[in-house]
Amino acid sequence: MCGIIGYVGGKSAAPILLDGLEKLEYRGYDSAGIAVINSNELNVIKTAKRIADLKGITQNGSTTKGNIGIGHTRWATHGAPTETNAHPHISYGGNFAVVHNGIIENYLPLKNELILKGVNFKSETDTEVIAHLLEFNFKGDVFDCIKNTISVLSGSYALGILYLNSPDTLYAVKNFSPLIAGVGVTENFIASDITPLIPHTKDVIYLKDKEIAVITGDSLNIFDLSGKPKSPKIERITGSAESVEKGGYDHFMMKEIKEQPPVILKTATPHIKDGRVVFDGLNLTKEKIKDIKKIVITACGSAYHTGMVAKYVFEQLLKIPVSVDLASEFRYQNPVVDQNTLVIVISQSGETADTLAALNKAKDKGAYTLGIVNVKGSSIAKACHDTLFTGAGSEISVATTKAYSAQLIILYLFAVFMAGHLGTSDEKLRAALLNEIMTLPQKVQEIFMLEENIKALAKKHHTITDAFFIGRNLDYAVALEGALKLKEISYINCLGMAAGELKHGTISLIENGTFVLALAMYEKLNDKMLSNIKEVKARGANVLVVTFKGNNTFLGAADDIIYLPKTHPLLTPSLAVIPLQIFAYYIALFRGADIDKPRNLAKSVTVE
Ligand code: G6P
Repeated sequence: MCGIIGYVGGKSAAPILLDGLEKLEYRGYDSAGIAVINSNELNVIKTAKRIADLKGITQNGSTTKGNIGIGHTRWATHGAPTETNAHPHISYGGNFAVVHNGIIENYLPLKNELILKGVNFKSETDTEVIAHLLEFNFKGDVFDCIKNTISVLSGSYALGILYLNSPDTLYAVKNFSPLIAGVGVTENFIASDITPLIPHTKDVIYLKDKEIAVITGDSLNIFDLSGKPKSPKIERITGSAESVEKGGYDHFMMKEIKEQPPVILKTATPHIKDGRVVFDGLNLTKEKIKDIKKIVITACGSAYHTGMVAKYVFEQLLKIPVSVDLASEFRYQNPVVDQNTLVIVISQSGETADTLAALNKAKDKGAYTLGIVNVKGSSIAKACHDTLFTGAGSEISVATTKAYSAQLIILYLFAVFMAGHLGTSDEKLRAALLNEIMTLPQKVQEIFMLEENIKALAKKHHTITDAFFIGRNLDYAVALEGALKLKEISYINCLGMAAGELKHGTISLIENGTFVLALAMYEKLNDKMLSNIKEVKARGANVLVVTFKGNNTFLGAADDIIYLPKTHPLLTPSLAVIPLQIFAYYIALFRGADIDKPRNLAKSVTVE
């Protein structure tokens, strides 16, 4: 949520900052700005629009001279997305410029104190407090003033700081929000994630909470708060510049949808050896597994939906009770979780604030925690007792597709792994599941052949105002995800729900022409789904069914049917979600929506 980039070195800073911001724009795109120091002047350029506008104003950065600067792309929390509220924020004396990710929870009392001392505030942001505090606390030493400033801040922050009279030094500090230093040759960087760093350097340092980085073009020193130098680990990142480019597609979303077959393969292959699931490096011992009496899964958004799938799969294979909680709820509840509970936290980014807080709560209660995370080095990955990584690679589109699919694969594998240790399911079933998982990439590829049909269906329905996605059992979990995809990128009011619940209220909304998408991949409950379809058809609904090839149950009952390849009943979510992603994509396209950057959303939600 929000993106930060900082540069210091021999090159012109502004073009580097602007390119970096473009790559970070998926983290927030309400407004943006850069600050660059040149000849003892702090030049600040901001916009209430997108980075493209900032590029236009500065002619791609060419009109803004200077070799040191910071940039920010904002997802508004405090104050509307206006030019004034955009970062960087400048201190009252004009000496400090600050970009900030996170939320300063005590900004109001701090602001009031500063106002009493005569400081004038320009913006409604919490960040402006930091800029003024830096100026106020400055007694000749920037390190000390940063230290004193952060000592009164509570909340989360990643800060990039410029001080006008140190025109060759960039300062950075973080608490809870991620911040990375990029180590170059005669140039160095800071960024809120690795995407903008990839074209420049592969050597990075993940800054730790409350360490202060003092960075010039030739040096990158990190100190603890007592001023003691630290010896940070320089890590080498994988991934190429192309991995964050669109690769010929119009949108990242479609590129990422199409990457799902290799992603599934890349996620599964390393863990399947000689017909068994192996997780190298997992600390969860056989003894510990035997002690597990309950599994709690917690996550947000689509990751929560993969948790819903996992509940059905785990309960069937492990015979252990599984509950799935939204992390934003779990963190404020008093969950019954103890040392015999395995808490699984699922997160693409590994930075979602609510998920991280839920994880910490589970740890406090003594639970064993397992992260299923896409981003290596992320806060959740580091904080869990164990982490399994999904091999999805960088995902840029705000609406997740390939990361969702990779999470499902890890969850299926984990279920088979646990079932093997617990002996709670038949070896034949486990082997069948593993074999079938390896066929999923081919089957997803087959679904891509239906793209034109799905596009035509999207064309048919793109003007709808409401939609209902219904399913039972695993199809219910997929209905939630499909509905989320559609609503987040097309802005159609769309509800995903358990088909059996229709008659408890929602059916009152069905009238002539209402669009209902019925998922019917779960063969056992076909007849029940048919009844639900008949009930909505009787009230005038326009029904699109997604089912498996050879299933004639819905012929004549539905308006349209999408037939998918058949797979094991427990694995159907991996296939069923694909047409829903493509359907949402084309509906959004026909409606002219901003597919990769839907309004008001951000990829990584690092605030509550
Ligand atoms: C945002 C994203 C979703 C994602 C959710 C949880 O809402 O747009 O795609 O599912 O956050 O994010 P996480 O990184 O924890 O999976």
